[in-house]
Amino acid sequence: MSNHFKDILVHTENGVMTVTLNRVDKKNSITSLMYAAMADALESARHDAAVRAVVIQGHESIFSAGNDIGDFLTKPPAAQDSPVFRFMRGISSFPKPLVAAVCGPAVGIGTTLLLHCDLIYAGDNAAFSMPFVNLGLCPELASSFLVPQLMGHPRAAEVLLLGEPFTAETALEIGLINRIVPPLEANALAQRQALKLAAKPLTSLLETKRLMKKGNAAIVAERMAEEGASFGRMLREPAAHEAFTAFMAKRQPDFSKG
Ligand code: COA
Repeated sequence: MSNHFKDILVHTENGVMTVTLNRVDKKNSITSLMYAAMADALESARHDAAVRAVVIQGHESIFSAGNDIGDFLTKPPAAQDSPVFRFMRGISSFPKPLVAAVCGPAVGIGTTLLLHCDLIYAGDNAAFSMPFVNLGLCPELASSFLVPQLMGHPRAAEVLLLGEPFTAETALEIGLINRIVPPLEANALAQRQALKLAAKPLTSLLETKRLMKKGNAAIVAERMAEEGASFGRMLREPAAHEAFTAFMAKRQPDFSKG
């Protein structure tokens, strides 16, 4: 099975659904249409017995620059059924194994979505960042809970309060990722690992993942709802508006220079 929306490619073969962020010219920044396509793919994978594992991948030069800033500026998500919230609920409660391949920048949700993946393979060019505060926003996808849990409060403060990026080596050291490989090998490795998972009994995979996640499940759902309410409000406030407008302005062609 394959789809026809070029910004998100979805392909299912041998029990593995592969979701590819494919908007490389815009650094795989994610529009609401892309969130909708990813939410739909995860929803279909959840119910399709032929899918036993899902791979999320980008390009060897870029995983994702996070939310499409122009899209957020003009169409900030309002309701809980908006595509971004649907995607967040889908990935955070996804019952089957999720494998990610990450190369290049992984900004904002490009990093926070990894907190909900099971196996993560990174190119040595991967660069992780969650600059929510710099953008006048707050963490999402339960990252305000999962990041301190993963790396301890002081390091979490560096990445969430200061918005400092971190490398693939640091990500490996703190246990965010499984392995570092040359960028051109990351997607293939993720695929091989997903095929190994897909060959195992699905009921055992489902039950094992459920048990592994059980301790966090209720807190994650509750935290996402609280973060979502704050994030939605902050998106409409002056600090975010200024940061987003400044990002867009930097990228407008300067016609005054002839
Ligand atoms: N939203 C919308 N467009 C984006 C984008 C985003 N988050 N990130 C990059 N783009 C677009 C740029 O506007 C540019 O478009 P143009 O060619 O039409 O001008 C194109 O992608 C290339 O981006 P550029 O910044 O020139 O690439 P780079 O290689 O120098 O830097 C990043 C890559 C990811 C480091 C940088 O683009 C970046 O920091 N993006 C913003 C990330 C961010 O703050 N995301 C959080 C959103 S909540």
